[in-house]
Amino acid sequence: MKLSTSFLAIGLFTGVSIAQNSTVQVAHVTLRSEGDDHSFPMSVPADGKPVFTYSTLPVQKIDAPDFDVLQACVIDTVGPANLSSTIASDGVTQQVVIDPPQTVTSITCQGTCVETWSACFDDATGQSLGPCCNGLCIANRCRPFNQP
Ligand SMILES: *[C@@H]1O[C@H](CO)[C@@H](O)[C@H](O)[C@H]1NC(C)=O
Ligand SMILES: *[C@@H]1O[C@H](CO)[C@@H](O)[C@H](O)[C@H]1NC(C)=O
Repeated sequence: MKLSTSFLAIGLFTGVSIAQNSTVQVAHVTLRSEGDDHSFPMSVPADGKPVFTYSTLPVQKIDAPDFDVLQACVIDTVGPANLSSTIASDGVTQQVVIDPPQTVTSITCQGTCVETWSACFDDATGQSLGPCCNGLCIANRCRPFNQP
């Protein structure tokens, strides 16, 4: 009983330190139009605050190489859109597909994700350490989509 109490205390302490602002991850995304004309990069800290694009580019795809944007971000578009995911022609980079393509006004991200090749499950406790940023959790590690 004493042991499990101290585990709980460690868990709470970890939670508090994540909530504080020292380890905010940043999603480095690229907004792409059909034909890739005027595509542009954007950095979105995962702090729950919207980052505005100030662009009217009709966006068809958003590269998300280092954050699970479809799950952990809100993509604000000017009209209704269906969002889905795909993998870029490099076989590694996940992309959000916006259907139909349209202006993205802002992107808001929140939370954390596990980088490729880092542990997605704690070997000792078997607890999930979070979703993978760009890939799949296989045999306790986040791995690229094309090379598990
Ligand atoms: C984190 O710190 C930066 C700069 O110190 C600040 O601009 C930002 O609003 C903070 N984010 C959160 C979630 O507190
Ligand atoms: C989203 O997909 C559904 C199902 O395919 C479709 O009925 C709907 O019209 C789509 N919405 C937009 C905005 O394209």
